[in-house]
Amino acid sequence: MSFPHSRLRRLRQSSEMLSLTSETRLSVEDFVYPMFVIHGHGKKIPIEPMPGIYQLSVDMLAEEIKEVTSLGIRSVLLFGIPETKDATGSGGIDTNGVIQVAIREIKTLDPNLIVMTDVCLCDYTDHGHCGIIKGSNIDNDATLPLLQEMAVSHAQNGADVVAPSAMMDGQVGAIRSSLDSAGKKDTVIMGYSSKFASGFYGPFRVAAQSAPQFGNRTSYQADPANVRQAMLEIEQDIEEGADIIMVKPALSYLDVIRAARERFDLPLAAYNVSGEYSMVKAASASDWIEGDRVRDEILTSIKRAGADIIISYHAKEIASAV
Ligand code: PBG
Repeated sequence: MSFPHSRLRRLRQSSEMLSLTSETRLSVEDFVYPMFVIHGHGKKIPIEPMPGIYQLSVDMLAEEIKEVTSLGIRSVLLFGIPETKDATGSGGIDTNGVIQVAIREIKTLDPNLIVMTDVCLCDYTDHGHCGIIKGSNIDNDATLPLLQEMAVSHAQNGADVVAPSAMMDGQVGAIRSSLDSAGKKDTVIMGYSSKFASGFYGPFRVAAQSAPQFGNRTSYQADPANVRQAMLEIEQDIEEGADIIMVKPALSYLDVIRAARERFDLPLAAYNVSGEYSMVKAASASDWIEGDRVRDEILTSIKRAGADIIISYHAKEIASAV
């Protein structure tokens, strides 16, 4: 039916009518809030390119976790910034390392809050790469045991979900088998399955002090041009035992989210990454855009594209807004 019988504007007459006919709704349950935990005491260090986001020491977590849970957020994703970094990222597997202590602290504060952890070497290596280096290469197979050890350590200290993000081939299968042998059969794996080599991670590398000291990540992270290859990455993670799959970044990859949604039935996460957040904050600080409005539009588009779970630095703002 077409005009004048059909008038699509009928359903746009009021905010009530708009809300009644809305196809996509954000809710606080969709969101995971990423947090940066730093070594030391009494630290709450603002991350310059990410206004509102801080590096927090473990003793400063209580206040933040109280705020997060009072807003109704039920899931956090932790990144650790250790005091010292080395070639193999050994700070990431230390039982008294920053991330391990942070997991235990959060589980004491709120045992039911879902604690997810990033499993990757780059936060812990002095060279800033996601795997260990042999010659001028990032050695895939030599990195796997380190990722296995890190995931087991996170799980043993209380993580509910481990999220391997190093983009090493076989990482999900390797981690699944070592979790199982360590008696951690119920630890969930959220694969950063289709993670692209992206300029949108710039602010995160300031936050986590993890910029690669030489070269870049294009030999292991996926090429932004490739959607079919992204599907292969996801398929392999599922075969290797991933429980949740992910597309990252989100905003420039809405077509990848849509393709993954149509093809796979596992819960699908999308990571609204640091650069996506910083762009909104910077343009809004100059009054070039209405920040809240653009934020809601971006997050709605990620959900509309097919994401079930949205990892976002905006999570607290959304929880207060919806
Ligand atoms: C670790 C990791 C990164 C991000 C999440 N896990 C950085 C990277 O790959 O360089 C980026 C998240 C963000 O930008 O918000 N490998």
